[in-house]
Amino acid sequence: MSLDPAKRGWMSDAPNYIEPIALGYEVRISVLGRVVKSNIPDFAVGDIAMTMGAWEQYTTVPGATLNKLDEGLGIPLSLFLGVLGPTGVTAYFGLLDVAQPQPGETVLVSAAAGAVGSVVGQIAKMQGCRVVGMAGTDDKCQWLTGELGFDAAINYKTCGDYEAAIRETCPDGVDVYFDNVGGEILDAALACLNQHARVAVCGWISTYNDSELPALTNLWQLVAQSVTIRGFVVLDFLDRFPEAIAQLAEWVMAGKIKYREEIVDGLDNVLPTFLRLFEGSNSGKLVLRIPE
Ligand SMILES: NC(=O)c1ccc[n+]([C@@H]2O[C@H](COP(=O)([O-])OP(=O)(O)OC[C@H]3O[C@@H](n4cnc5c(N)ncnc54)[C@H](OP(=O)(O)O)[C@@H]3O)[C@@H](O)[C@H]2O)c1
Repeated sequence: MSLDPAKRGWMSDAPNYIEPIALGYEVRISVLGRVVKSNIPDFAVGDIAMTMGAWEQYTTVPGATLNKLDEGLGIPLSLFLGVLGPTGVTAYFGLLDVAQPQPGETVLVSAAAGAVGSVVGQIAKMQGCRVVGMAGTDDKCQWLTGELGFDAAINYKTCGDYEAAIRETCPDGVDVYFDNVGGEILDAALACLNQHARVAVCGWISTYNDSELPALTNLWQLVAQSVTIRGFVVLDFLDRFPEAIAQLAEWVMAGKIKYREEIVDGLDNVLPTFLRLFEGSNSGKLVLRIPE
């Protein structure tokens, strides 16, 4: 099962893009599993499929919600929860359709070593952009610049002043800010935007456990620099998922997109493992495996 920060928002009784999880109900989540019982002809026992499941050992779902996966592709199936699944597709459409980076532009991405951010940065490099990532450890920053080809990285936990660090690593200003975190980092990025910059608002993980949102002091820059800011959810692009997955698979197989995934075993570990997303102790896509 895929452990995603957005599920924290689904646990709050606040308006969202999907119904909140009611008290006492199972936590919904993307799962990849094996069919153990079927009463429809399209699926046989043993088939592998993805669906919206839950934090539970077995899930019963309508057949129409299942996407069958081919085990013979030679691709580790867990990748369909990450780089070839919802997080990779989020990066693909969020960057290319929402932010529309142009060659030579500077792209800044937060939570850059994570499942979404690491793919955003690598696609931006392929678009001919200068790419700067923000992440929470020196090891993650080293991975970004040393292995993924980012031009610079900021350890936001040790840099002190976010805005000064962005100005130093983006001397020509920021043309695209891919926002995975919101809060004070978003505010600092707004201060550094160039004219006609685009901000793709993907997620606000820094605020998911807060009851109040921090104030944004640099919103006027949206006017001053004629900025386009657009929030999106990956489901906006549901009908185009096959296009993104095919392209991402080609890039992954060609070694043009590298990824990290961390697979943790055992349903009993689901809660402490989920919480690691908010400490930053995950390394790339976080997946929980339930032993058969
Ligand atoms: N719009 C959509 O459709 C969509 C789809 C998928 C994901 N998202 C959003 O994309 C973002 C990344 O998701 P992901 O699945 O790729 O997770 P991820 O980046 O693999 O994991 C979350 C990372 O966020 C960082 N983080 C946690 N707390 C933070 C804080 N207070 N300030 C700054 N960074 C913090 C941590 O990395 P560090 O070590 O760098 O702090 C952590 O490893 C989330 O906001 C998520 O909600 C949106």
